[in-house]
Amino acid sequence: MTLFPEMVEQTLNTSILARAKNNGLIDFEAVNIRDYTTDKHKKVDDYPYGGGAGMVMQAQPIYDCYIHIVEEIGYRPRTVYLTPWGHPFKQQMAKDLSKEENIIFLCGHYEGVDERVLEEIVTDYVTIGDYVLTGGELPAMVMIDAISRMVPGVLTNCESKNTESFEDNLLEHPQYSRPAEWMGKKVPDILLSGDHKKVDEWHYEKSVERTKKFRPELLK
Ligand code: ADE
Repeated sequence: MTLFPEMVEQTLNTSILARAKNNGLIDFEAVNIRDYTTDKHKKVDDYPYGGGAGMVMQAQPIYDCYIHIVEEIGYRPRTVYLTPWGHPFKQQMAKDLSKEENIIFLCGHYEGVDERVLEEIVTDYVTIGDYVLTGGELPAMVMIDAISRMVPGVLTNCESKNTESFEDNLLEHPQYSRPAEWMGKKVPDILLSGDHKKVDEWHYEKSVERTKKFRPELLK
C-alpha cells in the first residue's frame, strides 16, 4: 500500500524477482492508497492535531485500501508498517516471513500515519536500520527482496543460501575467481588444493575472522 505505486512496480519487476514472478513463485502488486480516498480533491493527508511540522496520512484511505485487499484474499494477513521506530529487520525475519502466503506492506510518507489506523491493521512494525528515509517504499522493497530470495526456487543455486552472510551469525568468507594471480596477489593455496575438508575449515576460519573485524557483536 503506497502513494507511489510506479516506483515500487518498476523496481520489483526487474532481475531475479521478475524472473521469480514470471515462474509463478512469487507475486506482488502495488496498491495506490490515493485510489481509496473519499475526499473530493483526492487528499490523503492533513495537519497533525497538537501542531508540529509536516503532514499526517489520514486513516480513512489507508483503512479502505486495506479492507479492499483483505476482501480480495479472504483473511487479514501479516501487515508490516515500515517505520524508523520499528523492530530491526534481520535475516531470520526474512526467513519467517517467506513462509507467509500473503503480506501487506504499508508505506508511510510525510511525518507519519494516523495512529488509529496503525492500531487497527498493523501486525509488525519494522525498521531496516537506524537512519531516516523519506518514505516506506525503499524499506518495503528491501524487505520484499530479502524475503523473496528465501522462497524455495527463487534462487537457482540452492548452495548460495547456506554459505552466505548471517547463517549461524557469521559473515560470508572471502571469494576468489580466475586468474590464480592478479596484480601480484595470489589466491590462497588451500583453495587450489582440492582438499574439501581443508577448504571448509578455511572458509569457517575466514568467516569468524571477518565477523570479528566488522561485526564483533554478532559473535556472542
Ligand atoms: N521509513 C523511514 N525511514 C525508515 C527506516 N529506516 N526503516 C523503515 N521505514 C522507514
